[in-house]
Amino acid sequence: MGYFSKFVGVCAAVTLLSVTVVGAEEKDPLKPRVAPDQMADAKAMKNPVASTPESIAKGKALYEGKGTCFNCHGKEGKGDGPAGAILNPSPRNFTNCKFHKKRKDGELFWVIKNGSPGTGMVSLVPAAITEEEAWTIINYERSFCKGGDE
Ligand code: HEC
Repeated sequence: MGYFSKFVGVCAAVTLLSVTVVGAEEKDPLKPRVAPDQMADAKAMKNPVASTPESIAKGKALYEGKGTCFNCHGKEGKGDGPAGAILNPSPRNFTNCKFHKKRKDGELFWVIKNGSPGTGMVSLVPAAITEEEAWTIINYERSFCKGGDE
């Protein structure tokens, strides 16, 4: 009994520790992710899907469905989805308006298509979604920033 309760105690301590240690952080969210030699082309890309209430609603359905984005980025867009919690660096927090200001749509699209090397953000076009669906989700991701000029 003595040994067993000690064992249980150690397990609980280890579990607690790993939960605390796992909380990683985002890595420099304002630093560009697009490869330097492709940046000009990425910035020049225009989102072919107009940002309307309809396309934003479609983007939400894709974000929470087929695209599986919410698993890492979280339903509220804070980068705290169930799978995102174990990733280092953490997934992007889309409620950060400063991040949105820094990025053109084409830069976001580039990462959804090419991934961000060395992170949990892998290429999802065409593996999970089409190019048009990616542009649609971008409109939804933009809507997580509520602060406007912040
Ligand atoms: C397996 C976890 C995971 C999933 C699923 C995932 N992401 Fe990410 N995403 C990440 C991580 C981690 C980062 C941060 C990468 C970094 O810091 O470079 C990120 C970053 C991003 C960025 C920021 C790129 C930039 O310019 O900084 C965008 C945009 C993005 N993800 C879009 C999406 C979309 C859209 C989906 C769904 C189609 C998706 N992600 C699904 C983990 C994920």
